[in-house]
Amino acid sequence: MSAIKFTSSKLEALNAASPAAFTDAFGGVLERSPALAASLASARPFGSAEDLCNKLYGLLQALGDEQQLALLRAHPELGQSAAQLAALTAESQHEQTTSGLTVLDAVALARLRAGNAAYMQKFGHPFIICARLNTSTAILAQLEARLHNTAPMELANAISQVVDIARLRVIDLLN
Ligand code: GUN
Repeated sequence: MSAIKFTSSKLEALNAASPAAFTDAFGGVLERSPALAASLASARPFGSAEDLCNKLYGLLQALGDEQQLALLRAHPELGQSAAQLAALTAESQHEQTTSGLTVLDAVALARLRAGNAAYMQKFGHPFIICARLNTSTAILAQLEARLHNTAPMELANAISQVVDIARLRVIDLLN
């Protein structure tokens, strides 16, 4: 992926922010996971947005399985009803809407919900894919394909997708 460009003043402000202000700014990026935002704050200064995302990925990969699972479980399932959507972070609402998941026909929605349930039952965490980088058709195909993976493969896939989700959220936050 090409390097992300931030205006340097925003990156500088992020590097200079108090830990509390940094954690506050990152609240939505990591699905309201303040402990992770605080760890990321300790990894400053960031030389670039790409540096930030690389450090985030390293930090998430170094977590134990239980901490990784807690982060994954903080993410909503895709294909929420309008009432469920209203309770999500603004970032999540945006992602679920722009990927076309809120306008699925009844057959596709039933496939998505059945796949989500089977995935949750097999792996113990929601199916995570970066919704903004995928069409609803691709999301459904990936869900059904990834159901055949092993749990360690899916833990690694999901963490990598969390970083892709966070990368786009960081771009929105700072550009
Ligand atoms: N759950 C699985 N993928 C996503 C995503 O891209 N965004 C949000 N908000 N939740 C997800």
